[in-house]
Amino acid sequence: MATAFAPTIYDEFYVSGGWRYSTVREWLWHRKNLVKRFDLPRGLRMLEVACGIGFHTNLFCRMGFDCVGLDINASGIEYAKKKYPKRTYVHADATTDLPFDESSFDIIITRGCSLYHYDLAGETAVGLTRNLMRYLKPGGRFILIIATDCSGRRPSDNIWQNTLTDYRNHFERFDPDCTVDWYCGLSISSAQKKQ
Ligand SMILES: C[S@@+](CC[C@H](N)C(=O)[O-])C[C@H]1O[C@@H](n2cnc3c(N)ncnc32)[C@H](O)[C@@H]1O
Repeated sequence: MATAFAPTIYDEFYVSGGWRYSTVREWLWHRKNLVKRFDLPRGLRMLEVACGIGFHTNLFCRMGFDCVGLDINASGIEYAKKKYPKRTYVHADATTDLPFDESSFDIIITRGCSLYHYDLAGETAVGLTRNLMRYLKPGGRFILIIATDCSGRRPSDNIWQNTLTDYRNHFERFDPDCTVDWYCGLSISSAQKKQ
């Protein structure tokens, strides 16, 4: 399925290094809100979708996970491969067939993936999640971290501020037991796929 998102939109930004994350801050946040919260043991195979310049893929590897990063933006992937040569990064559109075995990841995680900022009931976002679910092992977990003020505003010239119900309705299509909540200015949605 083709995506309406322009893959080159982040080109200039990524060539200059993208967001300047604090390693300590990101480590502490993800240890508390990801690793401890979901009780994730070291060694899990993880796919980070929309990894941008690869910072968090590298962080997740340093935290003990076997993480692969994937993004549609070629500049981001090129930057990631140079900056973190020991890690694996793949240039691909997450709405299409991916170069992985199906049912091969324990965790699929995505932080701020552009397609989850717009119409969650639309074909693009639904198709994206449906496609990604193919690569999750039975019993695996899908985790979305996304910024929204939960107001439901849908500006025509900016990202949508989807509500938690919008996210719940989206993920319930795939897993009626998904959890959707809001924490410290970021929402996390996680779905435990059924055996
Ligand atoms: C807001 S950035 C987030 C980057 C990174 N996750 C972070 O937290 O710094 C959104 C990312 O989604 C990626 N993206 C958008 N559509 C995609 C798709 N269909 N497949 C893979 N990546 C996609 C963009 O290229 C961009 O790198």
